[in-house]
Amino acid sequence: MTETNDSALPLAGLYAEIRPDLDRVESRLSEMIRSDNPLVDEINAYLFTAGGKRLRPALLTLCARMTGNGAGPDAAFWSAVIEIIHAASLVHDDIVDRTDTRRGRETVHSRWGANITVLLGDHLFIRAIHEALRTRRYEIIDVLSEATERMIEGELLECAVSGDPLLTEDRYLEILDKKTAALFGAACRIGGMLGRADPDLVRRLEEFGRNLGLAFQITDDLLDFTGRPDTLGKPVLTDLREGRITLPVICALRKIGGPARTDFIARIAAREDDPSAVEAIRDAVFASGAITEAAAAAAACAAKAKSFLPDEAPTARTLAALADFVCGRNA
Ligand code: FPP
Ligand code: MG
Repeated sequence: MTETNDSALPLAGLYAEIRPDLDRVESRLSEMIRSDNPLVDEINAYLFTAGGKRLRPALLTLCARMTGNGAGPDAAFWSAVIEIIHAASLVHDDIVDRTDTRRGRETVHSRWGANITVLLGDHLFIRAIHEALRTRRYEIIDVLSEATERMIEGELLECAVSGDPLLTEDRYLEILDKKTAALFGAACRIGGMLGRADPDLVRRLEEFGRNLGLAFQITDDLLDFTGRPDTLGKPVLTDLREGRITLPVICALRKIGGPARTDFIARIAAREDDPSAVEAIRDAVFASGAITEAAAAAAACAAKAKSFLPDEAPTARTLAALADFVCGRNA
C-alpha cells in the first residue's frame, strides 16, 4: 500500500478505531509499574503521566488487528511491556545525552539525579522482563530481547562515533536501525504474531515497523534543527551541541566544498568552546538545502514502510497514515 498521505491527521483521529484497546494498555501499564517502594512509585507516576505518543502500543495493536483475529487482552499486555522498555530506554538515554527537558518537563535525571535514574531505568526494564517471563511466551520474549540488545548496540555505536564529521550515511542509518527502528519493528512483529498472521505477513509487518522507525528517527533528528522548543517539549540543537552527527549535517557536508567545508568541520570540533559554532553550523545546514534532502529521506523511509503493507487488510490504511504522521509531525 503506498497511496495515502494523511500526515495532517492528528494522532487522536488515527487512534480512534483502537481507543478502547489503548485504554486497556493504560490500565495494564498502571498495574505493571505499581511498586511498594514510594520513590519508584513517585518517579513512575511522573514519567508515565508526561503524555507520550504511545506509538509502539498503537502499532502493535493495529498489527494484531490486521488479520481480523482481534487484538485481545494479550495485545494490551505486550503493548504495556514494550512501552515500559521504551520508557526505560529514554530515561537512560537522557543521561547519556545530558538532556534536561523532555515532553516539556524536567527529565528524571535532572530532577532526581543520575544515580537514582540509572537504577529506576534498570528497575523498569526488569519489571517489564519479569512480567514477560511469567507468560512463558518465549517466542515473543526472544523478539523483545533481540530488539533491546540492538537498541543498546545502537546507543553504544552512537557514543563511539560522537563528534566524527566523516560519519557516513550508511553508518548513521545503522545506528538508527538499531537504537530506534528495532523496537518499532519488534512491536509490529509481535502484533502480527498475536494476530496469528502467517510468517510472510509477520515478516512484512516487522519490515513496515523498522522502516517507519527509521522515518521517525530521521524526523526526530530533523526537528532538532527545524522544531520549536515549546512545541517539541525539549530544547533544539542539542544533537549538534553533544556532537551527534545526524542526517542534516551529513547531507550538508556532501554539498559544501572548499574552504567552507573546512570551516564547517572545524566548527563541529569547536562546538564545546565556541558558543557561535553551533549557530554557524545550523545556518550552513539550512543554506545548503540539507533540510529538504533529509526530509525527503524520511519520506522515502515512510513510503518504503507502506510498501510492506497488504492492500486490503483492515488496519492497513491507519498504519499507512501513521507512517505519514511520523514524518509530518512537529513534536
Ligand atoms: C532516543 O534517541 C533513544 C533511543 C531511541 C534508544 C535508547 C536506548 C538505550 C538507552 C538502550 C536501551 C536501554 C534500556 C534500559 C532498555 P535520541 O536521543 O535520538 O532521541 P531523543 O531526542 O528523544 O532523546
Ligand atoms: Mg536523546
